[in-house]
Amino acid sequence: MTRAPLAPYPALRPRRLRQAPWIRSLVRETTLSPSDLIWSMVVHDGPEDFINVPSMPGVQRLSVREAAKAAVRARALGIPAIAVFPHIDGAKKDAHGSEAANPDGLIAQAVKAMKDAAPEVGIMCDVALDPFTDHGHDGLVDRGRILNDATIERLVEQGLMQARAGADILAPSDMMDGRVGALRTALEGAGLQDVMIMSYAAKYASAFYGPYRDAIGSGKLGTGSIDNPGDKKTYQMDPGNTDEALREVALDIAEGADMVMVKPGMPYLDIVRRVVEAFALPTFAFQVSGEYAMIMAAAGNGWIDEERAILESLGAFKRAGAAGVITYFAERAAGMLGA
Ligand code: PBG
Repeated sequence: MTRAPLAPYPALRPRRLRQAPWIRSLVRETTLSPSDLIWSMVVHDGPEDFINVPSMPGVQRLSVREAAKAAVRARALGIPAIAVFPHIDGAKKDAHGSEAANPDGLIAQAVKAMKDAAPEVGIMCDVALDPFTDHGHDGLVDRGRILNDATIERLVEQGLMQARAGADILAPSDMMDGRVGALRTALEGAGLQDVMIMSYAAKYASAFYGPYRDAIGSGKLGTGSIDNPGDKKTYQMDPGNTDEALREVALDIAEGADMVMVKPGMPYLDIVRRVVEAFALPTFAFQVSGEYAMIMAAAGNGWIDEERAILESLGAFKRAGAAGVITYFAERAAGMLGA
C-alpha cells in the first residue's frame, strides 16, 4: 500500500500549537505580569480627593492622601513602583519653575506620604521643570531659546529635593544634554549614592503627550510670547531618527543612568528593541497619555475591546524586550492579571 501524497496538504502545521489554551500558554514566548508595571500617577495640591482628567477617561488627579492609599493598593496588586507627576496651582508657576525644588511642595509631600504608607513600593519622580513653569517648557527660556546648562542647575536642585524626600528613582525627562551626569555627581556628593536614575534617554517630540499636558495643567506652548517656543523640538528627538536614540542612550549610560527609557511607547517599539539589543541594560517604555487616550476613546465608542486592547498593548512592550512599562493602566491591568 502506498501512502497518500502529502502534496495537496500543508507539510507543516503551526496551528497544532494553537489548538487549545493549555498548549498556547505552554509555548508562549513572553508574558505580562503586575511586576512589569510602573503606575503612572498624577497628584494635585487642591482640596479635592479626585479630579477627573477629561482627555483621559478613568484617570484622576489624586490628593496626597489618596496617593498614599493608592500606594497601598499598588503593593497589594504586586505593582513594584509608582511614577508620580504633579499638577500644581497655576498661581505657583513662574518662568523659572521656582516651585520645582520646594522641599515642602506637592512632590515632596506625595513622596513622603506614599513611602510612609507603603515603603515596599518604589517611587519614581520626573525631573523636569514643565509642571512648574508658566510657559510649559521643560527648561529655562531666554528670548525663545532653551538654556541647557542653566536648566541643569535647577534640575539638580529638583532631583536632590526628590531624593531627600525619599524618591527611589529619579527620572530626568527634560532631555537637556548632560543632566544625567550632573544628577549622578550631585547624588554621590550628597551621600545619596543608592538613588537610581532611569533616564528618559530616547524621548521624542511627540503629539502623543497632548493629554498629559491637560492632566498636569501644563502651560500652552507657543502662546505668542518671545519666551514661549511653540514646541519642544530643540530638546526632544525627531521622530524620524533611530541611530540618534542609540547615541542618547550611550551617553546617559556613560553619565550614570542605571536604567533607560524609550518614550512614547507603542509607536516606538522598534527603538525599544534596538536599545535592548545594543546595550543589554534594563530598558523601559512609557505608554504615554495619548496612547492611553486612544485606547479609551476607541473602546468608549465600542470600536475595540477595552480590556483585551489594554493587555495586548502592554504585552507588546514585553515582546519588544522592555523590562517593564510605565502606564496609566497599571492598576486596572494588574487587577486583570492577578497578583
Ligand atoms: C515632561 C513630561 C512629559 C511627559 C512626562 N514627562 C511631557 C512632555 O515632555 O511634554 C509625558 C507623559 C505622558 O504623555 O503621559 N517633561
